Amino acid sequence: MSHAAQDPRIPALYAEHIQACQARAERALSLSGHDALLVASGVEKYAFLDDRPYLFQPNPHFKAWLPLVAHPYSWLLVRPGQKPLLVYYQPDDYWHVPPAPPAGYWVEHVELRVISEPEQALQHLPADVSRVAIVGEADAALQHLVPNNPDALIHSLHWARASKTPYEVQCLREASRIGARAHRAARDAFLAGGSEAEIHRAYLIAAGHTDRDLPYGNIVGLNEHAAVLHYQYQDTARPAQSRSLLVDAGAQVSGYASDITRTWTRGDADSAEFDALLAAMESAQLALVGEVRNGVDYREIHLSTHRHIARILREQGLVAMSEEAMLAERVTSTFFPHGIGHFLGLQVHDVGGFMASEAGGTRAKPDGHPYLRLTRDLAPGMCVTIEPGLYFIPTLLNKLRATPAAKSVDWAKVERLARFGGIRIEDDVVCQAEGAPENLTRDAFASLA
Ligand code: GLY
Ligand code: MN
Ligand code: MN
Repeated sequence: MSHAAQDPRIPALYAEHIQACQARAERALSLSGHDALLVASGVEKYAFLDDRPYLFQPNPHFKAWLPLVAHPYSWLLVRPGQKPLLVYYQPDDYWHVPPAPPAGYWVEHVELRVISEPEQALQHLPADVSRVAIVGEADAALQHLVPNNPDALIHSLHWARASKTPYEVQCLREASRIGARAHRAARDAFLAGGSEAEIHRAYLIAAGHTDRDLPYGNIVGLNEHAAVLHYQYQDTARPAQSRSLLVDAGAQVSGYASDITRTWTRGDADSAEFDALLAAMESAQLALVGEVRNGVDYREIHLSTHRHIARILREQGLVAMSEEAMLAERVTSTFFPHGIGHFLGLQVHDVGGFMASEAGGTRAKPDGHPYLRLTRDLAPGMCVTIEPGLYFIPTLLNKLRATPAAKSVDWAKVERLARFGGIRIEDDVVCQAEGAPENLTRDAFASLA
């Protein structure tokens, strides 16, 4: 189970949060022309020809209201001017542990109906749903309660969700705090010579999580594996030599995620050349975090990252070209082939990153940058990641070898550095109305010290 946020301010912050959810829902209903919003928490899904369920993934529209992440077959009914009605599914199940009786800071804010069979929800929900917006996956349908997911309503809710309430920021802060603690433990396990699997386990223990609680699968790459952007395995064997570690891993608090990446070396003579690159990336990352300001077009931060990468490639002696020429010939994309970041919140890649307005539409990615996940102007309360990287990826390097720029690359240096895989440094950052952003991740690491 994920951990409920323990901060004493949480009950008061949650009271404000659920009011904000209500106001957003009422606005979305007026835009879509519906009388009520009904949200399905979701259903359990089973492997083909098998009786084993996949890990339950709640409808994010459900967990936006309630810190309930392991609660399939529940429903939330929202009507203008009324307390939300929660139909809470608590089966009488001796094979599994059912959801606990409703308790906690959220309970007083909803009208509760507890059911023990999914069909009992019908007794508590409207018989006529002709003017009800029903939000959920198709397979959450229960008789006449068939999700219709009206575009106008969904767009409005996704647009608003980008700016987090103070309650949400507090959950995100706590998720960064747990993540930072666990990243420290992962680094220590690496320095002790642990395998990827051992480092992963050290991370989980320090986080107080199991794999089920993680907001996404941990990326734990030693040496050349650090060059695989979403490296999905964890070798159980210890490598003969552990030169570098890239860990991209988060934590979850009341349904909110952190998404943190750190790159470590042993800091010895062998890693000196890579450590210089790491230090340059660390300074660039901090400068890019500083660009998270109210009103800034996030695409500009992505393009700014490419200018930093070009400068670093030149200054570190990897590519002997002018920075302008490197950008024009897209040399930087060989070394930094992903986006600078994304929205973070209920989902590790939170929705709404490409919206042109509350009514929907798409705000284009810059030409030649297909992997950027966020193209909006930043506003107060938006939580974004800033995650520049610089990698030695064999398949992309082979393509670079076939271009005119190849003659300007110090390939012997590339080969030496490729033994370390690559670098990514990722912080979770909240945009403020004025001035510098709140860096949840750096603050969390600092509080450990
Ligand atoms: N952990 C996936 C990402 O950083 O986007
Ligand atoms: Mn990440
Ligand atoms: Mn990320």
